[in-house]
Amino acid sequence: MLLHSIKELREQRKEWKNLKVGLVPTMGALHEGHLSLIKKAKETCDKVVVSVFVNPIQFGPSEDYDKYPRTLDKDLELCNKEGVDIVFAPSPSEMYGEGNRLSNDTLTYVCPPFFYVNKLCGKTRVGHFDGVCTVVLKLFNIVQPDFAFFGQKDAQQVVIVRKMVKDLNVPIEIIQCPIVREESGLALSSRNKYLSEEGKKDALVLSKILNNIKSCYKKGVVDVAALKETAYSFLTDKHDLEYLEILNKDNLEEQKNADDNSIVLIACRVDGVRLIDNTYLKD
Ligand code: PAF
Repeated sequence: MLLHSIKELREQRKEWKNLKVGLVPTMGALHEGHLSLIKKAKETCDKVVVSVFVNPIQFGPSEDYDKYPRTLDKDLELCNKEGVDIVFAPSPSEMYGEGNRLSNDTLTYVCPPFFYVNKLCGKTRVGHFDGVCTVVLKLFNIVQPDFAFFGQKDAQQVVIVRKMVKDLNVPIEIIQCPIVREESGLALSSRNKYLSEEGKKDALVLSKILNNIKSCYKKGVVDVAALKETAYSFLTDKHDLEYLEILNKDNLEEQKNADDNSIVLIACRVDGVRLIDNTYLKD
């Protein structure tokens, strides 16, 4: 069932009083990564809602909000195939009201702690995680799910959403699902659509760097600076590295020495496309 309005969604939700409800928040352009979240939600819950909403307030002024892929008909087809109960696809005005109210002068925002946002993607995407937390909390309030499913690919996002849920006592369990990759190793992303064939090959550098760091760690290298140093032999002038960090996976604290609780995170521009990827050092 496709619903566009908050009112209709709430009416439907009332009928599911004693059922376990799962929410998979997405911005659409669904791929196998999203489908793995939907499958997990179907396994865990009685009813599954997938939201499809390209959230304007999480994009910076020079980012790709206007050109972000919008493929609602195809998304619906995929959701129907997976047995999703509701696809919730509100308009920006349904979510934020009519007119130009999208600034924090006039709209209540959820601002996650500086410690968590002033690093990794948050450093260059200023305000991004305020936009993410604001829309995610709104979706939680609208759908009132018991479980919400997020992909490990956006690892910083999951840590921040978990922190929000804990700090604001939101009674929802956050389930993180593993990264889905192409056979080549490229992590699936809606933004892969922007890559040329050549760019797709160049993009393999992200997973190669991560795998190499992981294998060095397994051989006994723990010094974070030394592990990061190994990346440089993979980079060429086709790669514009934004960050490569090795942090504690639960609280994103810096580490001098990597350990089994470390996560390696990378962001790199390839072919003009900003890509991110990550891996835990311990499987
Ligand atoms: O990960 C995403 O696609 C988005 O950040 C989310 C969680 C759907 C919020 O807009």
